[in-house]
Amino acid sequence: MKVTVLSLFPEMFEALDHSIVGRARREGRLQFEAVNFRDYSTNKHGNVDDYPYGGGAGMLLTPQPIFDAVETVAKDAKRIIAMTPTGRRFNQKMAEEWAKEEELVFLCGHYEGFDQRIHDVLVTDEVSLGDFVLTGGELAAMTMIDATVRLLPDVLGQAASHEDDSFSTGLLEYPHYTRPAEFRGMKVPDVLLSGNHSKIEEWRRQESLKRTLERRPDLLENAPLSERDLLFLKSISGLSKD
Ligand code: ADE
Repeated sequence: MKVTVLSLFPEMFEALDHSIVGRARREGRLQFEAVNFRDYSTNKHGNVDDYPYGGGAGMLLTPQPIFDAVETVAKDAKRIIAMTPTGRRFNQKMAEEWAKEEELVFLCGHYEGFDQRIHDVLVTDEVSLGDFVLTGGELAAMTMIDATVRLLPDVLGQAASHEDDSFSTGLLEYPHYTRPAEFRGMKVPDVLLSGNHSKIEEWRRQESLKRTLERRPDLLENAPLSERDLLFLKSISGLSKD
């Protein structure tokens, strides 16, 4: 996969030199470039922003440097994703969709955001990291790139597979324990030491359901649930099947 980021602070993306994304780059599974769109400004001072028509606080990113940068470094890209708090909220499903693409371009805004013509003509997806406002789109883009790249084939080893991840099953993931079996009087649940795989599966499913009900009940509306799941939820919450 090829990922190109357009940003006024490309150095911030050095964070992606490390860990699993860094390894994916070194192994050639990810081709990554962070480009400063200020370099494409035709203004002699390298300006990239200007006052909003109609007045109001803050500055806006002007179209020229961003159009020229995209047309130069990502001219064939089919997916150009703008980071903005007014976009659709990012989630695992989007990461799964994006992981199937050959090329992604991320536009990182600053100030009050982009001139609307950038959204109207260049951008294919407007996406937000969450219901809060960041100083710029870089941290949002890094987060989304990380979540996407870890889903590419062979980026995670067997030992860190993403099949059971929270959200990919529609539920939050169950709790995990490792050695020792007892630490400062705190014991690992007996079932996990039992060697009984069907009991372990059942316990994990129930813990997932319990945790999701407590922390993110909104997820239960769309999660694929069996009759057995529904009965369990009912037993712990008084929820009815319908
Ligand atoms: N830029 C500023 N805030 C943002 C957010 N919440 N998501 C994506 N980009 C942003």
